[in-house]
Amino acid sequence: MINVALPKGRLGEKIYEIFAAAGYECPSIKENNRKLIFENAEKGVRYFWVKPSDVSIYVERGAADIGVCGKDILVEYAPDVYELLDLKKGVCRMAVAAKKDFYDNGERTLKVATKFVNAAKSFYAKKGRAIDVIKLNGSIEIAPILGLSDVIVDIVETGTTLKENNLEVVETVFPISARLIANKASFKFKTEEIERLAEGIRALTDGETV
Ligand code: PRP
Repeated sequence: MINVALPKGRLGEKIYEIFAAAGYECPSIKENNRKLIFENAEKGVRYFWVKPSDVSIYVERGAADIGVCGKDILVEYAPDVYELLDLKKGVCRMAVAAKKDFYDNGERTLKVATKFVNAAKSFYAKKGRAIDVIKLNGSIEIAPILGLSDVIVDIVETGTTLKENNLEVVETVFPISARLIANKASFKFKTEEIERLAEGIRALTDGETV
């Protein structure tokens, strides 16, 4: 049995369809209820719907053998897991954004609002730019508008949220897409099963081994 942590939400549903097409379907998952665990014993697969930012925790600690999560989570929390495949779904980017008229003259500490504290710190550390990180949990775009921060480091997908708040991208921090990850011990003991599944998924997503 392979235990799979999937991110709850639209991306997760798309990912499930890929797993199903690869031969790991679990019809009960389509039932309209609030259950979070679904199993198809015949196919040897059990799915858990978890909060997207929690997938890597389940996988790192072995509660799930494998899972799918965004590269943003892997960069931010650096979980001790194997990254097996780039699924090329949920494509977006981590970016620095600011008000349209903002100009960083580099003279004072830059105030950066973000959910991704570690990603922001390491990005600016590499540049040698001193920053003051303000950790927020959502609606990050409001911070520069209210003067809470100079810039934000956040996920940009279509750019609509920035546009509607009169902000613009200053620079890209790193590209993001969904990744198939595996628990290290599970990979050792269920190598064949996990590799077979990963290969089936790779064939359908044209994913790259990472
Ligand atoms: C993310 C991100 C932006 C938005 C960007 O938020 O934080 O707010 O999506 O998407 P766009 O470029 O297509 O407008 P999400 O919806 O994941 O929720 P959050 O507010 O919890 O971060």
